[in-house]
Amino acid sequence: MTHRTSFSFPTRIDCGRGLIAEIHHSLQSLGIEKPLVVCDRFLPETPAFEQVRDALGKTHGMPPVTVFNEVHPNPIEADVRGAAEAYRQGACDGIIGLGGGSALDVAKVCRLLIQEPDFALADQAALEQTSWDRLPPFLAIPTTAGTGSEVGRSSVITLESTGAKSVIFHPKLLADRVLLDPCLTTSLPAHLTAATGLDALTHCIESYTSPIWHPLCDGIALEGITLIGKYLAQSVAEPENLEARQGMLVAAMMGGIAFQKDLGATHSMAHPLSNLCHLHHGLANAICLVEVMRWNSKRQPGLYARVGTALGLDPRTTDQADDPIIEWVAKLIDQCGIQTGLRHHGVKQEQLNDLADLAIKDSCHQTNPVPMSREDFLTLYQRCL
Ligand SMILES: NC(=O)c1ccc[n+]([C@@H]2O[C@H](COP(=O)([O-])OP(=O)(O)OC[C@H]3O[C@@H](n4cnc5c(N)ncnc54)[C@H](O)[C@@H]3O)[C@@H](O)[C@H]2O)c1
Ligand SMILES: [Zn+2]
Repeated sequence: MTHRTSFSFPTRIDCGRGLIAEIHHSLQSLGIEKPLVVCDRFLPETPAFEQVRDALGKTHGMPPVTVFNEVHPNPIEADVRGAAEAYRQGACDGIIGLGGGSALDVAKVCRLLIQEPDFALADQAALEQTSWDRLPPFLAIPTTAGTGSEVGRSSVITLESTGAKSVIFHPKLLADRVLLDPCLTTSLPAHLTAATGLDALTHCIESYTSPIWHPLCDGIALEGITLIGKYLAQSVAEPENLEARQGMLVAAMMGGIAFQKDLGATHSMAHPLSNLCHLHHGLANAICLVEVMRWNSKRQPGLYARVGTALGLDPRTTDQADDPIIEWVAKLIDQCGIQTGLRHHGVKQEQLNDLADLAIKDSCHQTNPVPMSREDFLTLYQRCL
């Protein structure tokens, strides 16, 4: 209780089935007349994109919409430059980020290059010094339920100078408004529903168990875990179930809010797996989460007791030991159809040393409940292989 912290949950979030049809309300409130839609190259093929296009088309007086659809999975700096250039060419006056975390992260940060074309993304000092007063307005519309990027203050971009996934963080990067519509996530295939949902679970578990004092985020993380326990498997099994899809969208958003408190060792393992081995971020977390929970629990027994309560497990079995909770999570991952074992996803024994070198350099594990060394990461990668 002696610790200091700041509490800030300022984003306006509108949530509901079919809300996309009312997108013009959000755009009007932000003063956007000529939006740039930022998405990845696969999204225009999806019913989610079609619904947004129809909604924009029906908006009275809306001129043709400019689309930048070149965002890579695990986005790179060139995506950010490309989006800013498309904005200029289209003479746009605001941004719609549409898609998963990859598109939202590019949409969020390209505003810096629109405000200041020569802005150095790798330069943290430049972030602190920039004026932020000419940033274009930004509406975030997630079509996956996982990263929570729509309410996050950071973007994860692979920078040209380092070749590494870097977190570009500043509170002013927050979206101005968020629109959560479960009708946009029903087309997400089962394997991506599972992987993104397990990313959200990892955000909630790692933020709740990180030792930073932040009771507001803790409460949000625990309720997020309850929603994921209730709705993730159902979203995978019944893709058209709008109650489950909405539950997962809200849970993912809550995970994104909670992890402003910080994350843990699972994310430090996942980032190099995306960087070096091109695994989807949520899948990498899903494969590493259980081994990290076992590792942490062995060194801090009882760490996950309230995670068990949030999942509705019987406290008589979970009060004394974390094992039933961790096994419950392992079963959920299995039920979602995730093939665990990094070797099944192209990761080779000879890559583990390089992965461990990168994991120890990643900042997320600094708030893991138990301290981690490079050797610890090597052991964990070996167990996950
Ligand atoms: N900024 C943050 O706070 C934060 C947090 C976690 C992860 N991330 C980043 O987010 C990225 C991962 O995001 P993601 O897991 O959402 O995946 P993603 O954005 O890479 O999307 C994965 C795939 O899903 C498809 N897709 C998206 N919505 C769809 C829909 N409704 N129907 C059919 N297909 C659809 C996309 O076209 C894409 O092919 C990574 O780059 C990761 O580093 C950012
Ligand atoms: Zn994540």
